[in-house]
Amino acid sequence: MRQHVNPLSKNFFEIDPIPPLNQVFENPKLPLHLDIGCASGDFLFELSLKNKNWNYVGIEIREKLVLNANLKIKSRENKNLYFSFGNANNIFNQSKNKSIIDFITSISFNFPDPWFKKKHHKRRVIQPKLINLLSNSMKRGSLIYIKTDVRDLFDHMELTISESIKFKKILYQDIKFHESFNPNRIQTNREKYVILNQLKIYESIYKKI
Ligand SMILES: C[S@@+](CC[C@H](N)C(=O)[O-])C[C@H]1O[C@@H](n2cnc3c(N)ncnc32)[C@H](O)[C@@H]1O
Repeated sequence: MRQHVNPLSKNFFEIDPIPPLNQVFENPKLPLHLDIGCASGDFLFELSLKNKNWNYVGIEIREKLVLNANLKIKSRENKNLYFSFGNANNIFNQSKNKSIIDFITSISFNFPDPWFKKKHHKRRVIQPKLINLLSNSMKRGSLIYIKTDVRDLFDHMELTISESIKFKKILYQDIKFHESFNPNRIQTNREKYVILNQLKIYESIYKKI
């Protein structure tokens, strides 16, 4: 399977509509967390089993991973998890997806692809257009979590988010992790690798004000 796909290819211009939440979740009223670039979804499978009081949606640009993850959901009968295929930058261009923004409690961007070369920075998932859209639509108090081991990417994400006056960076000590989408501090696959290799992790949390 390809490790990297170009999100700007027109193959990814459309994103599958996420079905109405009452068709995918047993209890659509639970707080909703979106994980962007969820790869095979292992992180979300673990979260959804441990935290039945949350609903989780994973967005991933590699279609095969999404197909496999949704098959796994059916066989395991997870009632609070759904995966959607496509470029997360276009997720809310799809009019049907716009309505789910109201339900989002938090979004995570865990170890997004760094696209090191300057000419490829526009392929990075956090872009001003997406942040602008989120800043105008997410409900007050909702959170964006960013995490990476690449300093340059971290600076780029921080700069892009902080350019919106509607997102305020919050201190870790002010976060009630036991109430968050990840109370047990479960690690993503990339995070496990980074920790094993003693690399530095850069992370921030932003609140919609
Ligand atoms: C480095 S991996 C990290 C995977 C996982 N979040 C983790 O921490 O282990 C980045 C993932 O984001 C996906 N991805 C990259 N750009 C994307 C985009 N624009 N929309 C959705 N997924 C994207 C990649 O296919 C890949 O699975």
